[in-house]
Amino acid sequence: MATAHLSPSLALAMSPSRRLICQPQPVSAQPGRALLRSSPLSLPSRLTAAGGGVWRVAAAVEPRTVQQEEELRGRPEGSGEAGSDGAADASSKLVLVVGGTGGVGQLVVASLLSRKIKTRLLLRSPEKAVSLFGKQDENVMQVCEADTRNPDAFNLEMFEGVTHVICTTGTTAFPSKRWDGDNTPERVDWDGVRNFVSVIPRTIKRLVLVSSIGVTKYNEIPWSIMNLFGVLKYKKMGEDFVRNSGIPFTIIRPGRLTDGPYTSYDLNTLLKATAGERRAVEIGQGDKLVGEASRLVVAEACIQALDIESTQGQIYEISSVKGEGPGSDPEKWKELFGAAESK
Ligand SMILES: NC(=O)c1ccc[n+]([C@@H]2O[C@H](COP(=O)([O-])OP(=O)(O)OC[C@H]3O[C@@H](n4cnc5c(N)ncnc54)[C@H](OP(=O)(O)O)[C@@H]3O)[C@@H](O)[C@H]2O)c1
Repeated sequence: MATAHLSPSLALAMSPSRRLICQPQPVSAQPGRALLRSSPLSLPSRLTAAGGGVWRVAAAVEPRTVQQEEELRGRPEGSGEAGSDGAADASSKLVLVVGGTGGVGQLVVASLLSRKIKTRLLLRSPEKAVSLFGKQDENVMQVCEADTRNPDAFNLEMFEGVTHVICTTGTTAFPSKRWDGDNTPERVDWDGVRNFVSVIPRTIKRLVLVSSIGVTKYNEIPWSIMNLFGVLKYKKMGEDFVRNSGIPFTIIRPGRLTDGPYTSYDLNTLLKATAGERRAVEIGQGDKLVGEASRLVVAEACIQALDIESTQGQIYEISSVKGEGPGSDPEKWKELFGAAESK
């Protein structure tokens, strides 16, 4: 196996103010899709200090087949679940969270970290990670910089060792400051999702995409009002792209989101947010469910879906109401997802 260091353009940079950062670079400048080779536990051993606070990735090696990947992971392809109880087998996972600064995304990240699951964030502004999640061990949390609208600048090293992906990106349905620089629903929910999903290695065990209720009926009132600038239409196009990608997927469609985004920027405060009141969960299929959904519940649904085999290839609507819910109990989530499938 080659051990030489990559060129500086492939380096992962780390400084006290910016956590581990996988900087963007032209895809064409990279050694093909050699990232498919990585084993899920390889990241720490593949990163070597290069001095001056800069970290470098060991040089690319020959791509591995899916079978080789699975042998490395010690389980046959298609065995599906990384752990039987949802929270188990944390050490073998590396979850790439796209949109980890957003309302649902920040709760996904906080919850993964609290479960000691290795997490990599894909962010437009990596410096936000420090203010949101504080100082984290770089073996546990890493940050890659990318704008999903700009595939030419993707650094495919972001997939190094990644076993699961959760995508929570989005923008406002109506024109707002968040559309600045053409960050519109068309660009984020369609172009961005398509660009990103196109480069996800096919060895990924699960991709969870957060979409929205109403995407199948955006021409009908009241959904057509929400869809005035196309958000539901573009989310549906993003969904369809995921469904046709060949990647094992789960799509979560929440109703209007409550609880957050949180602006108290530290991990403990985010985790305390789990005391939110809207904990009882309703899950449906067929885009019939209407209602609001706590971001806490949506984040938990995304994490649980990673490990529940029956959720693979499924689309669920989710809402939540006041009351006790499944919390982080995998068995209760299995029942909830299962009940929706059998309706
Ligand atoms: N709000 C609702 O009521 C509602 C209802 C149904 C479904 N949803 C969907 O649920 C999901 C989560 O919603 P939310 O309100 O919690 O999220 P949010 O706060 O709007 O966060 C969106 C995330 O996407 C990232 N993002 C935006 N444009 C990007 C780009 N071009 N490249 C990379 N990242 C980009 C943002 O990063 P930056 O920090 O860089 O902007 C942010 O981290 C979204 O898909 C949303 O559309 C929302």
